[in-house]
Formats: sequence, C-alpha cells, structure tokens
Amino acid sequence: MNAMKIGIAGLGTVGGGVAKGLRVHGEMLDARAGTPLELVAVCDRDPAKREAFDAPAKLDDIKALAASKADLIVELIGGENGAAPMLVEEALKAGKHVVTANKAMMARHGARLAALAEKNGRALKFEAAVAGGIPIVKSLRESLIVNGIKAVRGILNGTCNYILTQMEATGRSFDDVLKDAQALGYAEADPELDVGGGDTAHKLALLTALAFGVAPDLDAVSVQGIRAITPDDISFAREFGYRIKLLGIARQTDNGIIQRVQPAMVCAGTPLADVDGVLNGVVVNANEAGPFFFEGRGAGEYPTANAVIADIVDIARGNVGSVFGVPAASLSALSPAPAAGA
Ligand code: NDP
Ligand code: HSE
Repeated sequence: MNAMKIGIAGLGTVGGGVAKGLRVHGEMLDARAGTPLELVAVCDRDPAKREAFDAPAKLDDIKALAASKADLIVELIGGENGAAPMLVEEALKAGKHVVTANKAMMARHGARLAALAEKNGRALKFEAAVAGGIPIVKSLRESLIVNGIKAVRGILNGTCNYILTQMEATGRSFDDVLKDAQALGYAEADPELDVGGGDTAHKLALLTALAFGVAPDLDAVSVQGIRAITPDDISFAREFGYRIKLLGIARQTDNGIIQRVQPAMVCAGTPLADVDGVLNGVVVNANEAGPFFFEGRGAGEYPTANAVIADIVDIARGNVGSVFGVPAASLSALSPAPAAGA
C-alpha cells in the first residue's frame, strides 16, 4: 500500500504538536487513514527544532520542502504574506496536497489558493485555522449544507477569552494575563493580532465564506479589539447580569452580509456567556436544523494539532473536495456591507 508522505513546515507550538502526534498515534492514524502516514521531511529555520524530530529530510528552506518527495505539505509557519502563501502556492503547483492552520493567509488569499488547489485537483484544508479543536470548518463545509444559514456568531480567539476570563476571576491586569497566554502558546507571534481583534476577523471571514458561499473578504469586516476593556467594565457588566466577550458576528441581512468583530455584553447564563478561558464557542443559526452550539479548546498545541491531523487523515482517505464547500470559481463576491447599525 502506498504511504501518504508528509512534510511539515514550522515546528513551533502547532507544528511540533503535529509531528509528535503523528509519531505517538502512528498505528491508530494509519488504520483510520487506510494507508500509512509517513513523515518524510521537516522544515524550520531553527536547527534545534529540526533536530528534535525524526524525519529523513531536515530542511531549513521552504522551497526545498515544496520540491521534496512529500505528497502533502503541512504549512505551520504562519503569516499573511511572504513565505507561507509562497510555500502553499509552490506545493499546490507541484501537485501536493496542503493542510494549514494559517487563518491570516486563508482570509487574505483563500479564494486564489482554493482556485489553484482545485485546478490542480489537490486538497487545501484548514480546519485548525478557525476555533482550534472545534470541527466547525468541516461542519459548515460538509454537514450543514442544506440548511440556509442566517447567522454565525462566536468567541473565536482563545487568547482574548482567556484574558477576559482571568481579568474577571482574579482582577489581574490586562498585560499581566496576556503574558500568561503567550507562555501557554495561545497567542499569535504578534499578540496585537489577538487583542486588536484581527485574528478574530481572519476567522470570521473564513466562517462567512463557508456559511454563505462567498469569497473570504477581510476588508469587509469591521474590527474592534479588547485593549480598552478594564476590570471595572467587566465588573459593571457582571453587576447587571452580563459578561464581556469578544465576538465575531456574520449575519445575513436584507442589505447583504454584515461581518463585525467587537467586545459585546452577553447575557449571563446563555451558551456564549459561559464559554470560559481558552475555550471558543460558535453558534450557527441554521434555518431548518439549527440553532447549533459548538464549544471546545480554541488554541494551544494539542487541540490545534488534532485538527491538523484530522485534515491529513481526511485527505489520505481521499476526501479532496472543494476548499470552501462550493467550487472556488463559484464563490461570489460579498455585496457591499450595509451602513453601521443595520
Ligand atoms: P510558532 O511561532 O510557535 O511556530 C512557527 C515556527 O515556524 C517557528 O519555529 C518559526 O521559527 C518557524 N518559521 C517561521 N517562518 C519560517 C520560514 N520562513 N521558514 C522556516 N521556518 C519558519 O507558531 P504556532 O505554531 O503557534 O502557529 C503556527 C500557525 O498556526 C500560525 O498560522 C497560527 O496562526 C496558527 N494557529 C496557531 C494556534 C496556536 O494555538 N498556537 C492555533 C490555531 C492556529 P521562528 O521561531 O524562528 O520564527
Ligand atoms: N492566537 C489564536 C487564539 C490561536 O488565541 O485563538 C488559535 O487560532
């Protein structure tokens, strides 16, 4: 039986977790995939990280990885522009499948990369890019397809939810708790992406694409982060029966789809209000079968690595399909956002 040969770029929090997961759970994963999964190449600019993993090829150059004998490249170096999209493009052009956790890249270049993947008959999967371990991408892409979706709302950033929860529980300062989130491996390389709302916007643009069949459009998301939230704001909200959460909201209106990221007062006792710490939560308002509520760990090594590995197994089983659930060529452009307050 032909093995599925895998190459991993980026051996940080998530890439390290994927390499470990493939090794530790090898036998079980081979059985689930129906074919052996073989790690043939790892790539990172840090030699110590490369040496920590057992693979025949230990590379420092993403171009060498794109040209390696891997059938499937896992992109976990991160970044909206530059090396990450370049690697994905080269890998797809070389006839390889790609799995990524890179929401910034997918939100900005997703439509173009999806078209390239589909033209080459290859998979481009990104389950780990949205809400870490929650299988929301596959659910929207493959399971909820005959439900008209009216809205998707969620807590999509583990770092922000961890900060807000810790500030509420302990009264510690914003910056102090942010340092914890960084040490735990939850935050982005540039944590301003988390606290400024940009990371939630990336994920929301992807959920919007999956839910409504439009091309991801980052520029159409209005974004406000949590930097200005104080412990006093949190305790006043609490006093009136609310909790403050950073929400990403995409909603179909008579005037088109609106996408917003903003701190919101969420009524205590409702599902999203009870999502604490690094957990993420997503509510999908579907016409026929909904509403649905998904909750799980939104960041960190294991939940994210699990989502990446699930994509690898899916591809090894032959589930290539369209990247956003409809052919890239038929993803429509988002109509202009309605005026604020609509
Ligand atoms: P890390 O910063 O921990 O790991 C990235 C690794 O890639 C680092 O070792 C980095 O080296 C290396 N790297 C960066 N650029 C290059 C390059 N051009 N060539 C070779 N190596 C390179 O990031 P994470 O593992 O946390 O995140 C990876 C991706 O997963 C990102 O897109 C992130 O948004 C996404 N993600 C992360 C989650 C998390 O919980 N951490 C959850 C969901 C998604 P160096 O350290 O020298 O920069
Ligand atoms: N920095 C991100 C977060 C990682 O905190 O949610 C998971 O996408």
